[in-house]
Amino acid sequence: MSEFHLCVVCLDEGRQKEAEQFSLANQLPLFISRNSQFSLQLCYTNHRIELFDQQLNTSIYVDFAHGALAHRQQFGGGRGQAIAKAIGLKQGKTPSVLDVTAGLARDAYVLATLGCQMTLVEKSPILSTLIKDGINRGLENEQSAKILSQNFDLHSQDAINYLKNIEKIQYPEVIYLDPMFPERKKSALVKKDMQILQRLLGKNENSEVLVESALKCAKERVVVKRPAHAPYLTETKPSISIHSKKTRYDIYLTASSKN
Ligand SMILES: C[S@@+](CC[C@H](N)C(=O)[O-])C[C@H]1O[C@@H](n2cnc3c(N)ncnc32)[C@H](O)[C@@H]1O
Repeated sequence: MSEFHLCVVCLDEGRQKEAEQFSLANQLPLFISRNSQFSLQLCYTNHRIELFDQQLNTSIYVDFAHGALAHRQQFGGGRGQAIAKAIGLKQGKTPSVLDVTAGLARDAYVLATLGCQMTLVEKSPILSTLIKDGINRGLENEQSAKILSQNFDLHSQDAINYLKNIEKIQYPEVIYLDPMFPERKKSALVKKDMQILQRLLGKNENSEVLVESALKCAKERVVVKRPAHAPYLTETKPSISIHSKKTRYDIYLTASSKN
């Protein structure tokens, strides 16, 4: 049974310095093999960095070059996808997007493959590390390198601070938010990667404050991703919602207030 929450594990001698730096900066214990007393373990292996969940016996990591994201890049629904419509992608219009809840950077990558200039902000140092590692590996693959080298800029910090400090001239056209979905009672219904994120981050996300900050800075719109039947995140109703099978995108148009 796990007793402690998080540790760093260096499984590759060549990455010892990197692992040490992360463990020092984040005051996490460092081991050279997996330690079953820790429920979550950030593992530096010879080919990637991954977050291992002791209880689920599986890991999450970021991979832009293979698997689901690469497949979606090749065969996804293009600009017809709900997420593309939600951010206002149409012929002659490819907005710049600030994703203030980057997570595992999946949504951000989908939008980047559709041509959007993406800025990502992620407050969890663990998730930022996974994204950076995904970017480094993705830059070695021709297909994903094209996207990552041009359209992808990651900031590892709290988005509320990030938004406080940007100049008006840098305000993005669109701000995108995907706050953690509320925990479902039947955990079998929650995908394993989401269960790991929930275990890592807990519940308290301050999403309402984040939306309020986003509404002040987005030149055109704020898009909030929600489960299909979840309540709105704000007291004010969104201007429009776009529905897909399990997801709803609430769109708050802000253009008039920024002119
Ligand atoms: C559900 S995940 C996002 C998943 C992401 N859309 C994807 O496609 O992988 C929500 C993320 O928002 C991040 N987050 C929440 N509040 C934040 C804040 N104030 N600043 C930056 N990141 C934040 C959490 O750390 C978490 O990684």
